[in-house]
Amino acid sequence: MPYNMGEYYERASDYDLEYQSQTEQDVPFWCELVMRYTPQRVLELACGSGRIGLELLHSPGNFQLEGLDIAPEMLAAYRRKLERESEAVRQRVTLHEGDMCNYQLEHKGEFDLIFLPFNSIAHLYEIEQQLDAFRNTHDHLAAGGRFIVDIFLPDIDYLSDENERFLTRLDMHIFFPRELQLLFLATGFSIEAIYGGYDWKPFGQGTRQIVVGRKN
Ligand SMILES: C[S@@+](CC[C@H](N)C(=O)[O-])C[C@H]1O[C@@H](n2cnc3c(N)ncnc32)[C@H](O)[C@@H]1O
Repeated sequence: MPYNMGEYYERASDYDLEYQSQTEQDVPFWCELVMRYTPQRVLELACGSGRIGLELLHSPGNFQLEGLDIAPEMLAAYRRKLERESEAVRQRVTLHEGDMCNYQLEHKGEFDLIFLPFNSIAHLYEIEQQLDAFRNTHDHLAAGGRFIVDIFLPDIDYLSDENERFLTRLDMHIFFPRELQLLFLATGFSIEAIYGGYDWKPFGQGTRQIVVGRKN
């Protein structure tokens, strides 16, 4: 494949430091979302080092949480953080190393919430990968379950500028709104809601796109 993530996710401690301010913004959103939907079985795709997952475990609710990520270094950091948690918390979490395009979990068909936060969908580069990930996620949900994807909206001015200055290569696919919505619709989901940000504002120009898909 011509795309790669370089060494970006091999330095999990740098990642955690770099995204502290993101945590202040998106973690309250995901915690509130879990309180609203009261799921029993939750899966975070591309869970990384547990930046969001660990906070969810301290929110109200007694759901089981699974996390899946392709980078062993990020999962190792997640596991190290879990070691500092109580036995009761650790019992609620299962981590898997795998690719969101082709994962196969024991509880397939039983998840009532699967989420793909913080731009991680941008690592699905080819349309076949995107369709595989969405179809597979649909199969892993229970009837009525929700799949939620959070990604920034592309900014044409920024994209047309010379933005090739980087320290570490990190390829990302940019999703325009209808492309993302079509992925949901083409893989059997209905679209229940689209939010524009972590404050639940409406989706529109200059916002994020947080799409809530539902398995009928
Ligand atoms: C921006 S980080 C997000 C991590 C975490 N969800 C968070 O919000 O902090 C993107 C994550 O996607 C993971 N990733 C990239 N491609 C993947 C794939 N095909 N399947 C599973 N995980 C993937 C990377 O290893 C990385 O941990």
